[in-house]
Amino acid sequence: MAEDLLELARAAAAHAHAPYSGCQVGCALETVAGGHFTGVNVENASYGLTLCAERVAVGLAVTSEGPGLRIARLAVVCPGLEFAPCGACRQVLAEFALPGGATEVTFLSGGRPVVRTLAELLPEAFHLV
Ligand code: THU
Repeated sequence: MAEDLLELARAAAAHAHAPYSGCQVGCALETVAGGHFTGVNVENASYGLTLCAERVAVGLAVTSEGPGLRIARLAVVCPGLEFAPCGACRQVLAEFALPGGATEVTFLSGGRPVVRTLAELLPEAFHLV
């Protein structure tokens, strides 16, 4: 199941705008409603304005499905590098995660897919409501 999202993320990564870091990141997510959305990192000459791939995907999903959406699963890849979503993205994902942070997050480690829940990646996430 994780492999299909990894494939979508890999395909999306080719569209990343990453002239500064050279890290072309792709993200793909599936909502509870069954929607699929991808995102890429969009870097900027003013480095701090860079958008991560995960947050771009979340923005597109919310734009399409509205703020009630829940992310069932998500995958992130960066050809040539391996990493889990950054801390800022974990907090953004928590806003739209399944109850208890049960959203499944897949990333590569040692060339293999690793699946973690968001709660494992971000225990005790910050919530206002
Ligand atoms: N990046 C992401 O897109 N997602 C992450 O979770 C970590 C980092 C991007 C930001 C920047 O364009 C490049 O990877 C190197 O940090």
